[in-house]
Order: sequence, then C-alpha cells, then structure tokens
Amino acid sequence: MRKKISRQKFKAIYKYKKCNNYLLMSDFSMLIIAWYEQNGRDLPWRNINDSYKIWVSEVILQQTRVDQGRDYYLRFISRFPTVGALADAEEEEVLKHWQGLGYYSRARNLHYASKQVMTDFKGVFPTDYDDVMKLKGIGAYTAAAIVSFAHNRPYAVVDGNVYRVLSRYFAIDAPIDSAKGKKMFFELAQELLDKKQAGIYNQAIMDFGALQCVPSNPDCNGCVLKDSCLSFGNDEVRKYPVKSKKTKVSNRYFNYLYIVNGEFTYLQKRTKNDIWKNLYEFPLIESSRLYETEDLSRLALFSETVGVDVLKISAPVKHVLSHQCIFTKFYTVAISDESVLFKDFIKIPILDLDKYPVSRLMEMYLEKTTR
Ligand code: ADE
Repeated sequence: MRKKISRQKFKAIYKYKKCNNYLLMSDFSMLIIAWYEQNGRDLPWRNINDSYKIWVSEVILQQTRVDQGRDYYLRFISRFPTVGALADAEEEEVLKHWQGLGYYSRARNLHYASKQVMTDFKGVFPTDYDDVMKLKGIGAYTAAAIVSFAHNRPYAVVDGNVYRVLSRYFAIDAPIDSAKGKKMFFELAQELLDKKQAGIYNQAIMDFGALQCVPSNPDCNGCVLKDSCLSFGNDEVRKYPVKSKKTKVSNRYFNYLYIVNGEFTYLQKRTKNDIWKNLYEFPLIESSRLYETEDLSRLALFSETVGVDVLKISAPVKHVLSHQCIFTKFYTVAISDESVLFKDFIKIPILDLDKYPVSRLMEMYLEKTTR
C-alpha cells in the first residue's frame, strides 16, 4: 500500500512555493476533469472495465504513441481477446503480434503473467492492487492504471505525463529520476487524486499531459490551469520536469548476413539475455566497429571463402533504441553448398521470412529487400 502525505504537508509544499493564487486540491482535480470532459480522447481501451484489455493497452502504450498503439492494441485483442486466450498461445505467436513495438521482454512478461492469472487467480484477473502487483512485469504505474480505470480504485497513476504536469504546476525541482523525487511525486499524486473519481481523474491528468501540457512549446496561454500554475507564473515552464542524469547510450555494430542458397535462407534465434531475446535474425557478426567491404574477405565468416559470393552490401543503417544505438550493415551473400556455413542455422524458404518474429530493424530491411 502507498503511504499518504498529510494535507498539511501538501499545503506546505504549495505555500513554500509562495503561490499567490491558492487553489484547493479539489479545484485542481475538478479543473483537470472538466478539461478532460471537453478534450479527452475517445480510445478503445477507455470506458471499459475489462482489466485484461486495460492491462494490454497500458503495456503497449508504455512504448508507443497512442496513434500507433491503437492498431497494435486492436490486432492483439482481436487475436487474444481474453487472458485465457493469451495464456494458451505459443510465445512465438505473441512475439509476432508484438513485432515492431520493441521492448519484447514486456510481451514475454505479459504472456507469463497471463499464465499466472490462470494458475494463481483461477483465470479471473485480480481486482486488488496488491494482487495485481504480483503479476510479472506489472509495477506501480500499471497496477494503479488497471485498478483505477477498471474498478475506480483510489490509486494515482504517475507516468511521464503526470510528472510533467505536477512538476510544472507545483514548480517542483526534485529530479524525477531520483528516488527522493519519485517518492515525492507519488505522494503528491496520491494526495491530489479525486478518490471518488479515481479512474476518470487518472485518465484526465494523463491526457492533459499528452495534449495540453506537452513536452515542448505547450500552449500555456490557452491552459485552464494557467492562473495557478507556479512555473507559468514564474515564466519557468521550460525548466520542468528536472532530470538528474542523462540516459547513457552505447554503440553496437551488427553485420548481418542474408545468405541466399537458391530459394532458401538462414536464421538464428536470439536466446541470450540481451535485446530482442527469442526473436529471429539473420546470422550475425557483432564487431567493435562496422566492417568495410574489404574487411569482409578477411573475416572468418565461412569455413572457406570459395563458393561464397558477396552479392550486395547495404548502406549502413543506424537503429536507435532507448539505451543502445545499433549501426548495421546487411551483406547479401550467395552460397551453393551448405558446408561453407560456419554454424548450424535454421534453414527456411525465403518466402517464409515473414512468418518469424523479428526486430523492427530486421523487419524494415525485409520490407525493402524481399517484398
Ligand atoms: N498512455 C498510457 N496510458 C494511456 C491511456 N490509458 N490513455 C492514453 N494514453 C496513455
């Protein structure tokens, strides 16, 4: 259970910031809900109380924008309409429906947790916050979203939108990526929550952040909260939210071999605890820099170079993930005899390539090359 801060403590935060236009907490939520009723989006996972569908939508929306997420959601729900249908599916099919969304561990967790619901909760999605938190991959944000949207339970959601709205409105400079900052925002969000309308209030503040209090160039003059927004009053909206660290991004270099043997090609499955676990890809050579054409002949890619023809080398592709930047080249190589292959790969007809779950990087290459 989350701890609450006292009303006094909240008022102290507000007074400390020397706000002239004192606004009651209830006014804050009333204005946000009134704004939502006028401006909120009509989305397929809204105004329903099916926890399973809300859960799926939340996991999808953790990594993609609403416009793109909507199509994924509809396709996913049409194939796996219930938690039982998801639990019964093969992981490979779940990953195929997730293809392109990234963060595949989330799809694997979703699948795993659907089985937990079947075994630990007799197939009925739990309604209690603490029970929902027991499901793999579900953290405080997702649990609060599920129980508040589906059952109006009084748990505040805190996502990037909420951090932005609260940090600007209250001019809070505690870094949102520090433990202390997170705790403070969670307590404040819980204190602000309209407990009788938790579901609608949570949707409202998230939409408010997504549509009105946007990351860059928000239209503050047209904002219903402008008279009491501390950062607007101090002309400091751009300062918030404050982050303490920059995300560290590492570079990796991938050389993929699209090996053509007549109408066949070869894949391997990524099994290590690394990006794209359990997805398929062409045989890969990871290097400390991107190879140039002349390097290729020096590589021990094949047991012999006789009988191996390099047909084409793609232009370098830069694929950006949240913590990694992958520089890639695809080498199209023809062979006529499998004995030159340096490892056992999965041999498949080229025409079947689209049956396998692959990364977005592979998918984009295949879209350009083989279709
Ligand atoms: N982003 C995350 N969850 C969302 C939701 N339920 N509606 C709109 N955008 C969201």
